[in-house]
Amino acid sequence: MQKRLHKVVFPVAGLGTRFLPATKVVAKEMLPVLDRPLIQYAVDEAVDAGADTLVFVTNRYKHAIADYFDKAYELEAKLAESGKDALLELVRGTLPRGVRCVFVTQPEALGLGHAVLCARPVVGDEPFGVILPDDLIWTGKGAGALRQMAELSAQEDAGVIAVEEVPPEDTHKYGIVDATPISDRAAKIRLVVEKPKPAVAPSNLAIVGRYVLPGRIFELLEKTTPGAGGEIQLTDAIEMLLAEHPVLAYRFEGTRFDCGNKLGLVKATLHMALNDAQIGAATRELVNAAAKR
Ligand code: UTP
Repeated sequence: MQKRLHKVVFPVAGLGTRFLPATKVVAKEMLPVLDRPLIQYAVDEAVDAGADTLVFVTNRYKHAIADYFDKAYELEAKLAESGKDALLELVRGTLPRGVRCVFVTQPEALGLGHAVLCARPVVGDEPFGVILPDDLIWTGKGAGALRQMAELSAQEDAGVIAVEEVPPEDTHKYGIVDATPISDRAAKIRLVVEKPKPAVAPSNLAIVGRYVLPGRIFELLEKTTPGAGGEIQLTDAIEMLLAEHPVLAYRFEGTRFDCGNKLGLVKATLHMALNDAQIGAATRELVNAAAKR
């Protein structure tokens, strides 16, 4: 597969029930970690991997994501007039030049697999990336997680799925892979088991929100029947893909924050605050004072 991933899909049509009531009107992906919404971290990671076409699979309530990446004429004019160049850069920098956004609607929340399938008319047959923005992966100054995966995918001519070791008692929350190691960080997947109880889990390597997939996955998704919870599961289509195409599990370099739940969002915010040039020291004092109480 090619090293550069031109197209990256962001399935963002979920209901975000764990953040109700905020998500009645605020898309989960627009929740900020410090001063940037989750979707911005995801888009930056896609661009770092070479993407020039960002495909957002949204629902009819999520106009904010399109607005956020659109040009803000009035605001930009005001900032320019008042010479606030740094802020102007910040506002203009949400989407780098040469990168385009395409919005596709998922008419009903029929599952992650179905959401990915909705992107088919835009992606076509080529390999593409998938990022779930609520899994924020922090890599500091190093290559983003998706770039690491795109490089491996090109090198091995294989699909690549991000995995992370989870505590054995948590296997029932994730898709778990059974895989044969081929290097320090990569393993060839034999089997994927959706949310197994710890006693029957083949490993503690859990699938997290990054994928590099061949275009063929769309045909397999078409054939996928609704599984757990009546949803079309991406893992079911990946299971079929295993029979015809190598798929690697990859332990990325970086730290993942599961911002799909409250504690994860707090952890990510704290991490970014502690590493922030302006408020890092004050945050550290705050945390130390709280620890002494
Ligand atoms: P989640 O399982 O986190 O569901 O979806 P959710 O609706 O976003 O949040 P909760 O659990 O109700 O709080 C994982 C990813 O798949 C997308 C979501 O937007 C999220 O990025 N998704 C899920 C869709 O795009 N469509 C679906 O039908 C389901």
